[in-house]
Amino acid sequence: MANCAARSYSSNLSLYTVTALLILDAEGQRVLAKYYNPPHQNATGSSNIVNDLGVGQGGPGMGGLIHLKEQKAFEKSVFEKIRRGGGEIHPLPPHLIITRTIVDLNFIIVGPLSNSNELMLNQTLSAFTDSIHLLLRGQIEKRNVLEGLDLVLLAADETVDDGIILETDAAAIAARVSRPKADTTDIVINEQTLMNAYTSFRDKVSQRIQQL
Ligand SMILES: *[C@@H]1O[C@H](CO)[C@@H](O)[C@H](O)[C@H]1NC(C)=O
Ligand SMILES: *[C@@H]1O[C@H](CO)[C@@H](O)[C@H](O)[C@H]1NC(C)=O
Repeated sequence: MANCAARSYSSNLSLYTVTALLILDAEGQRVLAKYYNPPHQNATGSSNIVNDLGVGQGGPGMGGLIHLKEQKAFEKSVFEKIRRGGGEIHPLPPHLIITRTIVDLNFIIVGPLSNSNELMLNQTLSAFTDSIHLLLRGQIEKRNVLEGLDLVLLAADETVDDGIILETDAAAIAARVSRPKADTTDIVINEQTLMNAYTSFRDKVSQRIQQL
C-alpha cells in the first residue's frame, strides 16, 4: 500500500516536465511564449493581463522566469544557443532546451535539466509543430503563424497545460483546436444576430417616441 502511494506520488511529480514553450523568430524576437506554473506553486504576482498575454509564471520549481525582464533575458540566452548551432538539444542549467528551426521560426521546449525526459520533451515539441502544420494547412513561417496566432495559442494549450504534457499526437491536438473554434463562431453569430435585432428594435422604439 505504502509503496503504491509512493510510486504514484513520484509519477505525479514527473508529469510536471515542461517549463516553457516558446516560438522565437529569426532575430530572436518573441512570437509566442508560454511559461508554466504548476498548481502547487503560489500564484502571487500573477495577473489576468499577464495570463492574457500568454506569459505565465516561472516553470516547475524554477525561480527567475516570473518577470518579463527575466523571461526576455532567458529567451536571449536560448537564442544564443540556437545561433551557435550544435544540434537541437542544449543544456542551459538549470534548464534543458530542445529547439527546432522551421523556415524563419525557432520552436523551443524547456524542461528542468535535473529531471526532464528528453524523449518526451522532443516528442511534445514535434507534436506541437506538426499540429501547427496541420492547422495552418501549409508551410510554417512567421507570416502564417502570426496570421493564425489564435490557433497556434490554442494548439499550445492543447499540448501543454500548467506544465503537464496533455497530448503528443499532432492530429489529436489539431482536431481539438478546430472543433471548439467552430462552436465559438456559431455563438458569435448568434449573439451578433440578437444584438442586431435588438438594436433595430430599439431604434424603432426611439423613433416612435420622438414622433409622439
Ligand atoms: C500563497 O500566497 C498567499 C498570499 O498571497 C498566502 O496567504 C499563502 O500562505 C501562500 N501559500 C503558500 C503555499 O505559499
Ligand atoms: C527529436 O524528434 C525529431 C523529429 O521527430 C527527430 O528527428 C530527432 O531525432 C529526435 N531527437 C531525439 C534526441 O529524440
